[in-house]
Amino acid sequence: MTIRVSLSEHRDASYDILIGRGLLAELPALLRRECPASAYAVISDSHVGPLYGERVVREASGVGCQVELVTFPAGEWNKTRETWAALCDRMVSLQYGRDAAVVALGGGVVGDLAGFVAATYLRGVAYVQVPTTLLAMIDSSVGGKTGVDVPAGKNMLGAFHQPRLVVTDLEVLGTLPPAQLTGGGGGGGGGGAPGRSGTLGFWSAWSPSPWRSRRRWLQRTSERPAGAPCSTSGTPWGMQLKPSPSSPCRTAKRWRSEWRPRPGSPNGWGLPNGARLSGSSGR
Ligand SMILES: NC(=O)c1ccc[n+]([C@@H]2O[C@H](COP(=O)([O-])OP(=O)(O)OC[C@H]3O[C@@H](n4cnc5c(N)ncnc54)[C@H](O)[C@@H]3O)[C@@H](O)[C@H]2O)c1
Repeated sequence: MTIRVSLSEHRDASYDILIGRGLLAELPALLRRECPASAYAVISDSHVGPLYGERVVREASGVGCQVELVTFPAGEWNKTRETWAALCDRMVSLQYGRDAAVVALGGGVVGDLAGFVAATYLRGVAYVQVPTTLLAMIDSSVGGKTGVDVPAGKNMLGAFHQPRLVVTDLEVLGTLPPAQLTGGGGGGGGGGAPGRSGTLGFWSAWSPSPWRSRRRWLQRTSERPAGAPCSTSGTPWGMQLKPSPSSPCRTAKRWRSEWRPRPGSPNGWGLPNGARLSGSSGR
């Protein structure tokens, strides 16, 4: 006997990416409007939590629902199953139900981890991305890729889970260490910029030197030449850079932050020079 389970899923999972200055102050109202919930878990790391998390919780609590800050120690080496389990256990102990939501407040590590918590907690709850690094703003907060690393490699456990909203407050870049700015710019320029909606808007809103020339380069590369194929993913003419030379490093455990290349740094160094070279050679 065969019983066929007929399923066809058509749902609109579209969401907005808001980019501007001072948007953190508007977060409570934005949450209420775009991601209403009975309670929120603001997941952050040990650096971003004290910088912005406490303020977000204080202001969001004013709207009359339970808002808790849940932090974990910062660093890629904490993007693990153990941290994911600890975050989920904390939500269980807070007795959060399916009508609760997660706010991912931090860089790509926070976004991936908090997104994975949202994807799996009670088989999935809503979440909002509030990226605080350049890389997270122009790459990891968009697209719904969530997950954790395992000893065998990066991002090997995960799920696709789209956020309800991405809130990009450019003010928070002011506290970012300079190395994060250069690495994130390169990573986004490689993987995110041509392929992710909203990225050009980001570069338009925030592009201090030395990124202005990058913005012009992005505008050029995202204009699909007549007749060039579109990728099936809808990426404008499918341009994605291959993993950077830093990729083999990524499975190595506990790179020391003083000398570990930031993800995207090689792209960050290489892209402007590549653009200059191709410009001067006329290709
Ligand atoms: N999901 C995706 O599509 C996707 C895409 C690209 C990268 N990623 C992931 O992103 C991660 C890297 O993200 P990252 O480069 O943002 O690193 P990160 O999240 O570790 O942040 C870097 C450091 O900056 C600190 N920080 C963050 N925001 C700050 C701020 N505003 N002020 C001061 N300090 C701040 C963090 O605490 C951390 O110490 C990797 O795990 C990578 O796999 C995911």
